[in-house]
Amino acid sequence: MDARLSKPLELKIPRLIYHEKLKSWRYAPLDTFEEVQYCVRENIFQKGRVVMSRIIVPEKESQAYVSKLFQTIGAEKKHADVVADHLTMAEMRGQASHGLNRIPFYTQKLEHGGYKANPHMKILREDAGVALLDADDALGAVSCSHAMELCMEKASRTGCASVAVTHSNHIGFLAYYTMMAAKRNMIGIAVCNSGSSTAVWGTRERVLGTDPFSIGVPAKKHFPVILDCATSVVAQGKVSVAETENKPIPGNWAYNKNGEPTTVASEAMVGTMRPFGDYKGSGIAIVISLICAGLTGMPFDFEEENLRRISDLSAGSELAASLIAIDISKFTDAEAFKHRVDGFIDVVKSFKLAPDTEQIYMPGEIEFNKVAANRAAGGFEIGPNLYQKLKNIRDQYGMKFEMDHWKHDD
Ligand SMILES: NC(=O)c1ccc[n+]([C@@H]2O[C@H](COP(=O)([O-])OP(=O)(O)OC[C@H]3O[C@@H](n4cnc5c(N)ncnc54)[C@H](O)[C@@H]3O)[C@@H](O)[C@H]2O)c1
Repeated sequence: MDARLSKPLELKIPRLIYHEKLKSWRYAPLDTFEEVQYCVRENIFQKGRVVMSRIIVPEKESQAYVSKLFQTIGAEKKHADVVADHLTMAEMRGQASHGLNRIPFYTQKLEHGGYKANPHMKILREDAGVALLDADDALGAVSCSHAMELCMEKASRTGCASVAVTHSNHIGFLAYYTMMAAKRNMIGIAVCNSGSSTAVWGTRERVLGTDPFSIGVPAKKHFPVILDCATSVVAQGKVSVAETENKPIPGNWAYNKNGEPTTVASEAMVGTMRPFGDYKGSGIAIVISLICAGLTGMPFDFEEENLRRISDLSAGSELAASLIAIDISKFTDAEAFKHRVDGFIDVVKSFKLAPDTEQIYMPGEIEFNKVAANRAAGGFEIGPNLYQKLKNIRDQYGMKFEMDHWKHDD
């Protein structure tokens, strides 16, 4: 290795770094010869200054890109549009872990036959308030949007309904489905299992998935209350995003493969996620796994078949989800209920703040605020590595899609 590479530069030159608190890219001095070389190689100096850009993706263009991509691969427009809406909404909510960075995996699964662009979803068993839906390895957003529609239709007749989904595949962020229910004056509940990545309390080995849950309750003047949590400290997708952009992770998110806490995202990706709330999160993951795999007959998170099929691009992931819709109007007047939710929120928010706290947030409120902020800013920001991946995928599929104007020089 060239001895100059590790030698600190005397002349400090600005470089772009990701500013965690501001959630944006800012300039800082370049420290090493290697970094200067990198900037020269990547042509990010112009007229003596660094001109690397912020990349802002407009909401509608993200939807158009994703929809066009999945249609190019063979999906019907209605299915491509659902996936486009789902991935874009994740980004708009500030949940990059379930946004456009999922595209490379989804496209590979579709290419190799693991996911089906045009699935034949069918109901395997049914009663008035329940159904077992075989999603036939649809893209996950398609399978669970369909399942929640079915659930709500049933709940509007029976008051409460549940749909369990086999072969659901990776269903993305769960708030998507509970928000569907809240929009229709229903309480929505969604859970799903995934391949083992997370410890249960008492071991640091991978046992269960990051098996998430979401519960959504509608309000009237306020945003609906939408709790949406992985049962690991954070979703593993957040580690994956950090890995893509070469950024460190907090030391309490995950362990390396030796079971030691790590701040290196790539080590965490081959290590173990940590359950949130210790034995409580671990306990919630256990019951979610039992409900999802149990009701559908899919393998448990740690079973060989589950793990093999997630990584085998030609196989559908043997994952399952369970959804519940509760029609409020069958219990009480829905408008009065929502009015009470508003009152509840107002009271909770009026309590004295703890030190160093700016405000009390309801579950989901931060994400709704982020959507509003991103809309005002003209779109959401992505990192340069993801941008490059999306460009490569566009070119790979011969899509005509202009992306250069997503870059903005500071
Ligand atoms: N499909 C899958 O297999 C899978 C697996 C795991 C997670 N996920 C998804 O990953 C996403 C992220 O999960 P996560 O656990 O990292 O989310 P998170 O920790 O960012 O948020 C969890 C919940 O806490 C709320 N929240 C966050 N900060 C808050 C604050 N300061 N005050 C009050 N409430 C606050 C959020 O609104 C949210 O409801 C979720 O959408 C989840 O559905 C999906």
